[in-house]
Amino acid sequence: MRVVMLHSRVRVEERMLLDALERRGVACDVIDVRGEVFDLSDAGKWAEVDLVLDRSLSLTSSLAAVRILETIGVRCVNPSRTTEICSDKLQTSLALERGGVPTPRVCVGLGQASALQAVERIGYPAVIKPTVGSWGRLVSRVNDRDSAEAVIEHRAVLGSAQQQVFYIQEHIDKPGRDLRIFVVGGEAIAGIERRSEHWITNTALGGKTAGVDVSGEIGEISARAAACVGGDIVAVDLLECPDRGLLVNEINHSMEFRNSVDASGVDIPGLVIEHALALVGTQAGVAP
Ligand SMILES: Nc1ncnc2c1ncn2[C@@H]1O[C@H](COP(=O)(O)OP(=O)(O)O)[C@@H](O)[C@H]1O
Ligand SMILES: [Mg+2]
Repeated sequence: MRVVMLHSRVRVEERMLLDALERRGVACDVIDVRGEVFDLSDAGKWAEVDLVLDRSLSLTSSLAAVRILETIGVRCVNPSRTTEICSDKLQTSLALERGGVPTPRVCVGLGQASALQAVERIGYPAVIKPTVGSWGRLVSRVNDRDSAEAVIEHRAVLGSAQQQVFYIQEHIDKPGRDLRIFVVGGEAIAGIERRSEHWITNTALGGKTAGVDVSGEIGEISARAAACVGGDIVAVDLLECPDRGLLVNEINHSMEFRNSVDASGVDIPGLVIEHALALVGTQAGVAP
C-alpha cells in the first residue's frame, strides 16, 4: 500500500498521524505540496499511490493538488468537495440548510448598505465573520448600530474582494463553551468542549479543553453535519442554544487535535488513520 501525506509544514498533528501509520507498519511518503510538479498528462508516481492524506496548510494549494490527484484517480482524504465547502462558512451554511441540519440564522449582504441591513435584520448582538478564516480571526460581535457600521466600513475599505461578502450570523448565547466533535467515517468518535471567559472560545486564543460525551443527540447531529459535506474525517463545532438546543456552527476539514487527545481520552490520530486506510479503493462521498 502506498500512502502519501501532503503537507506544507509537519506540525504536531502531522507527526501524530505519521506515528499512527508507523505503528501499523504502513510506510508513508511525506511530500511538501509546494515542491511538486503535477503533470496533468502523466500521472507518473501518483499512479501507484493508494491514498493521499491532505494536510496542506494553504487552502489554495490544498484544493489545487487534491483536484488534480482526484482526476488522476487517487483517493484523497478529505475529498476536494468537502474542503471546498468546509473552508467557506457561507458554503457550509448552505450545505447545512440543504441537509436540514440546525444551524444559527445567517444573512448575507454584498455591499456596505445591504450588510448593515442584514445586521439589523438579524438583530443585536450579531456576529460578522469572514467567510474564509480560522482561529477566531476577524470574528466580530457587534452590539449596536455604531459598531456594526464601523466593522462593515473597515471591511469594505481595507478588505480584499473576499471580505465584501458580509456574512452575518445570529449570536447564540451559549453557556461559556462550544463543542467540537470529531466525526470519522460517519461516526462521532470523540468530543471536547472549549471553554473560555471570552465569547470566542478557540483554543488558539486560550480556550480550555475538556472531554464531552458524544453519545446521543451530540453525536447524531454531528454525524448529520459531516454527511452534509461528504466529509470522511471532520470536526463539527456545535453551539448550545438556550431555546433551540444544538446548532452546528462550522465544520473543519483539516482539524487540529493536539489538545483533544488527552482531553477526550480517545486516540484520535489512531482512529483517523484506521479509517483512512479503510477508504483505499472506495469512492469519495458526494455532498448532497
Ligand atoms: N454565532 C455565534 N454565537 C456565539 N458564539 C460564536 C458565534 N460564532 C462564533 N462564536 C464563537 O467564536 C468562535 C470562532 O468562530 P468560528 O465561526 O468557529 O470561526 P473560526 O473559523 O475562526 O474558528 C467559536 O468557536 C465560538 O466560540
Ligand atoms: Mg471555529
